[in-house]
Amino acid sequence: MSFPQTRMRRLRASPALRSLVQETRLCPQRLVMPLFACTGTGKKIPIDSMPGNFRFSQDCLVEECKRIAGAGIGAVILFGIPDRKDETGEIGAREDGVVQQAVRAIKAAVPRLLVITDVCNCEYTTHGHCGPLTGGDVDNDLTLSVLARQALSHAAAGADMVAPSDMMDGRVGAIRGALDAGGYTNLPIMAYSAKYASAFYGPFRDAADCAPKSGDRATYQMNPANSNEALREVELDISEGADIVMIKPALAYLDIVRRVKDTFGVPVAAYNVSGEFSMVKAAAARGWIDEDRLVMEILTSMQRAGADIIITYHALEAARILSKAGAL
Ligand code: PBG
Repeated sequence: MSFPQTRMRRLRASPALRSLVQETRLCPQRLVMPLFACTGTGKKIPIDSMPGNFRFSQDCLVEECKRIAGAGIGAVILFGIPDRKDETGEIGAREDGVVQQAVRAIKAAVPRLLVITDVCNCEYTTHGHCGPLTGGDVDNDLTLSVLARQALSHAAAGADMVAPSDMMDGRVGAIRGALDAGGYTNLPIMAYSAKYASAFYGPFRDAADCAPKSGDRATYQMNPANSNEALREVELDISEGADIVMIKPALAYLDIVRRVKDTFGVPVAAYNVSGEFSMVKAAAARGWIDEDRLVMEILTSMQRAGADIIITYHALEAARILSKAGAL
């Protein structure tokens, strides 16, 4: 059947018809809001390169989490901005660390909100790399034990899920082993499985003060030119015990999201990273694009590509847009 019997425009004739046959529908429950936890009290420090995002001290973070839970958003993912750093990142595993304290405070005040913690050393090392250095490069196997201790400390603080973002080989297995040995057999791991060495992380590195002081992350994060390699990374992480796999960044890697979803069928997360967010904000500030529509279009494309979960700095605004009638 083709024209004139088939007219694709019939089902586009009204908002009600378009809504009836809409294939992908966003909801706040599948969004995860990233948050930056800093020390002190009464602090809500704007992040210049990420308009509308802040570094929150614990008390302000709790207030923000109440708003986030109230908007029906699925979860938060926490990043720590510590007062002090060290050579190995071991400081990130302290029981009284900035993330550990933040988790305790949030879980006490807003118990229904899922709290995920990013597990990585780059926010805690003086050199900004994701683990201790040997001969100028990150020492993979040495890093695993530091990561495992950090993950365990997050679990002990009450985190609902841990999310290793370092891209060391074997880290999911090491963390799973440590969690199980510590009695946290039911704590899920969301692995940053296919994390690319991307220029889209620029604003985040400002926000979390974690840009490498020398070199780059190309010896551990993936080459943006590769796709088959992402499937191998995902397969390994699943075999080591990952419950959710993540692709990061999202927008320039939707082909990877689709391949991973089709190949493995496991829960897939896409990380709509800082640079993707800030590009939208910058264009909107100049009046070049319709921000609300663009945000919905971008997030919808991620879900359409196969993402079950979308980690995005737009989460709160997306929830607001979705709550308005006539949202996409
Ligand atoms: C830490 C980490 C990074 C991001 C998430 N976890 C930075 C990096 O790898 O350099 C980036 C998030 C974003 O850009 O929004 N390893």
